[in-house]
Amino acid sequence: MKISNKKILVTGGAGFIGSNLVDELAKENRVIILDNFSSGKKENIAHHDGKDNVRIINGDIRDKGLVFSVTKDIDVIYHLAVQCLRVSIDDPGINHEVNATGTLNLCMAARENAVKRFIYVSSSEVYGTAITAPMDEAHPREPTTVYGASKLAGEKYALAYHRTYGMDTMVVIPFNTYGPREHFEGASGEVIPKFVLRALNDASPVIFGDGSQTRDFTYVTDTVRGIVMASECDAMTGQTVNIARGEEVSIKELAEKIYSRLGKAAIKPVIEKERPGDVMRHFAGTKKAEELFGFRAEVGIDEGLDRFIEWFTSQGYDMGRLIKEDIVFNWETRK
Ligand SMILES: NC(=O)c1ccc[n+]([C@@H]2O[C@H](COP(=O)([O-])OP(=O)(O)OC[C@H]3O[C@@H](n4cnc5c(N)ncnc54)[C@H](O)[C@@H]3O)[C@@H](O)[C@H]2O)c1
Repeated sequence: MKISNKKILVTGGAGFIGSNLVDELAKENRVIILDNFSSGKKENIAHHDGKDNVRIINGDIRDKGLVFSVTKDIDVIYHLAVQCLRVSIDDPGINHEVNATGTLNLCMAARENAVKRFIYVSSSEVYGTAITAPMDEAHPREPTTVYGASKLAGEKYALAYHRTYGMDTMVVIPFNTYGPREHFEGASGEVIPKFVLRALNDASPVIFGDGSQTRDFTYVTDTVRGIVMASECDAMTGQTVNIARGEEVSIKELAEKIYSRLGKAAIKPVIEKERPGDVMRHFAGTKKAEELFGFRAEVGIDEGLDRFIEWFTSQGYDMGRLIKEDIVFNWETRK
């Protein structure tokens, strides 16, 4: 299915990945964004204000009536709305309600309204830590956090809707994504923006555990391109696919790369106690995406960090204020 001239619903479209996805989809489609702005930001989508083909609905995917009404006449749903991992540590109930029950609400509404294709954007957190690597789509799914478990429930609902009702559903699993609009603020901040912010302010990077834990960092333009390519691939119906760079980087290495780029290599990391439930290794298998629809992530970590730093430092942020608001957050201690 070519994603062109379609009427599309993007849940979580004001968030980091969602807003980047909306930018791509809005080039050739009509897009409705459904977002409750709990972590999404108006400024992420403000450039669409006044455009005929982008509509923003401030609403909640837990509201079944709303979900049924906004999915009427929709061709394709990209479902990204989520309560994040850090929220799950303190409030597992809301993670379940939004990530699991919210996904079921969308599946029910999509079926009722005969939506043509439903793309569930999952997370590498469903796998837990690598038992074998690279981790392909058959890797056991043993999530370590309630977040991962609730995302896995969403995957299962989406695929069950294909198996039971023949609905055209698919699961796309991005690995850690970084780039413009990534969260840097307070407790929502992700590791790359946090390290950049701390380096710019001459503060040490804070590493939980020994820093040997790895992630497969994928630049957001690649993640978005991968999601769109998967959604256009008819052979993806009922299937699951990883979208990732396929390059493993340790947190210690990541800190070194960022601090040396910013001329702060002399600043040494502060080591804190490891975080409960922290995944030790993520290294994606990327063959399925390449074989099914020819996707390969183009941006390696060095180029991606350069691009991100350029974006971050050109936003006019008050770095002094942001560093004061920075929260060093060990999931266990909440300090
Ligand atoms: N960022 C990553 O590294 C990463 C990696 C793998 C998978 N993912 C997945 O990609 C998707 C987007 O993640 P993100 O990093 O852009 O997160 P984000 O927090 O920036 O975006 C999530 C969006 O969902 C909205 N939202 C939350 N609860 C809602 C509700 N009840 N109703 C309506 N909207 C609601 C938020 O306001 C926000 O705009 C998620 O499904 C996530 O699991 C992200």
